[in-house]
Amino acid sequence: MLSHWQKDNTSIMSEPPRIAILFVCLGNICRSPLAEGVFRTVLQERGLEHLFQIDSAALGDWHVGQPPDPRSVAAARRNGIDTSGQTCRQVGPEDFERFDLIFGMDRDNIRRLSRLAPKEPCGRIHLFRQYALDRAEEVPDPYHGGEEGFDAVYRMIREASEALADKLADRALSVRNSGQASSTT
Ligand code: 4NP
Repeated sequence: MLSHWQKDNTSIMSEPPRIAILFVCLGNICRSPLAEGVFRTVLQERGLEHLFQIDSAALGDWHVGQPPDPRSVAAARRNGIDTSGQTCRQVGPEDFERFDLIFGMDRDNIRRLSRLAPKEPCGRIHLFRQYALDRAEEVPDPYHGGEEGFDAVYRMIREASEALADKLADRALSVRNSGQASSTT
């Protein structure tokens, strides 16, 4: 699948196609901003950033307009990644068209995303670690825990992001080169 949309929802048909990926969690202040920042960093390290469009969003509306949780920002910073400039937004119906792959961090995220999706099955919603690593594992919610929980979440997201880049690199290049639709399932 190809995506021709940018963040303000205007068409960018003249730009080369990219695989569009949305990371989703409950609050969009702990896990999904970290996933957005880490996956972007992994792509930059591999010279692949131009082949992808990446964003993150919340299922709940509690933190809309806010920056990521300071504990999530600190965990990223301990690993050389700056996520402080991100702003929480909520998942909307248009996201199910704009994004080729929508990754929930845990099974509750997947259930909520499936209920929000306009059509079933849309085939774009996946559990992040399962899709990337072929392991049916969640990225657990660290919100009510301490710093070590955020570091553990960072490590899970880093591992999954490296595997996701491995998995999608060839497909992203062929999408770019052919300009034709490509399955991302
Ligand atoms: P996240 O963590 O889903 O990883 O961003 C949470 C952040 C806030 C809340 C729950 C989880 N909350 O209930 O406000």
